[in-house]
Amino acid sequence: MGFLSVLSMAHKLVKERVSPGDTVIDATCGNGVDTLFLAELVGPRGTVYAFDIQEEALERTRQRLNDSAAGAALHLVHASHADMVEQISADGRGKAAAAMFNLGYLPGADQSVITTPDGTLAALKAALAVLRPSGIVTVVLYPGHPGGAEEADAALQWASSLPQSLAQTVLYRMAQKAEAPYLLAIEKR
Ligand SMILES: C[S@@+](CC[C@H](N)C(=O)[O-])C[C@H]1O[C@@H](n2cnc3c(N)ncnc32)[C@H](O)[C@@H]1O
Repeated sequence: MGFLSVLSMAHKLVKERVSPGDTVIDATCGNGVDTLFLAELVGPRGTVYAFDIQEEALERTRQRLNDSAAGAALHLVHASHADMVEQISADGRGKAAAAMFNLGYLPGADQSVITTPDGTLAALKAALAVLRPSGIVTVVLYPGHPGGAEEADAALQWASSLPQSLAQTVLYRMAQKAEAPYLLAIEKR
């Protein structure tokens, strides 16, 4: 039967914690797969913020959501996820139910445009700040591509050092393949 993929496990953890009408964040919208998933979860009364530094990714996401009937309020933000706090309306801060990160580069585009350890750490801290209690951050990490292992290590080190009074963190990872993508999930207390 096999285990869930890291992407499916991220969706499962998010789905268990998000309800219609919630505010949610896709920190790396790329092709918009996670954005659409989030929009369908929160429905027409919900709000989705989707970040990417590439206009092409925002356009792909816009297209994917236009083709759907999800109906959520969609804010496509052409900015780094590190600026998440400033980009989310004041009344949305501290209320988000989930923030999803899928790190790395946009498939089929310039592979030098990639998430970085410094930007990712800043964004993870910002995501925790905008989450409500019991909200979740999911991070799909790619140790197999250039720079990916350093980024994954930085994220893991940061998450491991979070006080348990602030958040609980878990890993979902293939034990036999060190370079396979893996999932870090952080639930805010
Ligand atoms: C692996 S793709 C995301 C895939 C996407 N979640 C999907 O469902 O198709 C990673 C994305 O992160 C974006 N990215 C890189 N640095 C970023 C940053 N600082 N802030 C926001 N997005 C960034 C890239 O442009 C790329 O589109």
